[in-house]
Amino acid sequence: MTSMKNGPGKSVASAASLRHGIPVSKPVAVKLGTKPSSSGMNVGSGIGLAPGAGKTACIRTFGCQMNVHDSDRMLRMIRDAGYAEVQRYEEADVVVLNTCYVRENAVDRVRGHLGELSRLKKEGRVKKFALTGCVGEAEEASQLQNTYGIDLVLGTHNTYELAEFVGLPGMTETYTPDLPGIEGEHQAFVTIMTGCNYGCSYCIVPSVRGRMVCRPMESVISEVKRLVASGTRYVTLLGQTVDAWREREGKKRFCDLLERVAEEAPRVSFTTSHPSNMEDRTLELIGETETIVGRLHLPVQSGSDRMLRTMHRGYSSERYRRKIEVFREAVPGGMLSTDIIVGHPGETERDHEETLRLVEDCEFDLAYVFKFSPRSGTEAAGMYRDEAVPGDVAQRRFVEVLRAVEQNALRLNREKIGSVEQIYMRHGRTGDGSAIGETWSGHSVHVPTDAAPGDYVTARIDNAGPHVLYAGKPMSS
Ligand code: 5AD
Ligand code: SF4
Repeated sequence: MTSMKNGPGKSVASAASLRHGIPVSKPVAVKLGTKPSSSGMNVGSGIGLAPGAGKTACIRTFGCQMNVHDSDRMLRMIRDAGYAEVQRYEEADVVVLNTCYVRENAVDRVRGHLGELSRLKKEGRVKKFALTGCVGEAEEASQLQNTYGIDLVLGTHNTYELAEFVGLPGMTETYTPDLPGIEGEHQAFVTIMTGCNYGCSYCIVPSVRGRMVCRPMESVISEVKRLVASGTRYVTLLGQTVDAWREREGKKRFCDLLERVAEEAPRVSFTTSHPSNMEDRTLELIGETETIVGRLHLPVQSGSDRMLRTMHRGYSSERYRRKIEVFREAVPGGMLSTDIIVGHPGETERDHEETLRLVEDCEFDLAYVFKFSPRSGTEAAGMYRDEAVPGDVAQRRFVEVLRAVEQNALRLNREKIGSVEQIYMRHGRTGDGSAIGETWSGHSVHVPTDAAPGDYVTARIDNAGPHVLYAGKPMSS
């Protein structure tokens, strides 16, 4: 395989748009007349015209990568039913909002969309709409359904029920993680585990996604093989805590699974990891293996041991620092990102300073910084009543952490100027017409090229910002 992973020019910060927990609103394309029965349902038999023929559908995704993956699965049902793609609610007969519940502002955004859909339905434009995902699983779901007149509410465990909603024969849920991803796309997500066995004080995920369920290795490998055979060039292994993956019966761990997947797929990455599960062997594997992108997303949440205990994270800041040392040594120039929460109830100025110190020591290429938001039913929401950090203090801490990360990322990114990189074209166009690619070290690059998603180009890095690198015209593709 051709790879410059260990060649010249490892680079820096990325602002990947799709990842665990990042609110994104991504309309998913629904194409007319694509592969029949990609959802595994036999829609041809006994049905004359596809139920969605001549109709339009729009799926919009709010939330993390798991949600994007769930949307892919629902998209296949909509495709099978024969619906045509539209991007705007006004033009859709059927709308699906697939939602995330991790932070309050995501719910607020969904309310705005529900209000608009409710109005469009009253005006007779949108015929029906569904709410799916974490918000559909939450306590407020029935209240939302009544307020906005939602036609169907589904949680994360029963998205297969959307089949009937779009006019397909009913489908019984198999084992959720076994549902295959879409074939024929240049990049694909493969879920290797669902749920989470941790109980972080602030987090709603375990109550909406349930306990960890690991997908068997043979099932993962056969899906990866099938995707690669259908043209997929980039596989991202997905789960809330992927590195907690274990064989149900047997001794295989995440590093064994990753190694096998990296033998089958030409390009591999994974997200999200938990520091308590991250093994040195996995970090070494990233550095040693040609097909694994040199990126690690390892949420730390806080640099204060006192806060890490309050959050029930299960590791100390020292142990986290040691993991980072191993990564930096195993994957020189690799892309390290993290999540940090500021203003968790009880966080003192001293705790905050320890977070700033950890940010300096770990030299992150990127951090997703969140202001604490109380999620009802979590332990931290209970603490919020007595120990809330005032809003202006949380805002100042937020800015301080963000600034520290960005200064560091910009410095690291500038060191990449002049390096020559092999860049995988991922998607889209920026405002100036560039395409967005990714280096083997996992950094985002804007490239002035017409190369299609899934192609590689070789280009020199000419400029750098805190979140992205800028390449010159490619030398070759
Ligand atoms: N408040 C703020 N941030 C949160 N996250 C999860 N729950 C909350 C919350 N209640 C952040 C964590 C996690 C990321 C996906 O979202 O940093 O790693
Ligand atoms: Fe939430 Fe913690 Fe599980 Fe991550 S590890 S999903 S933050 S409970």
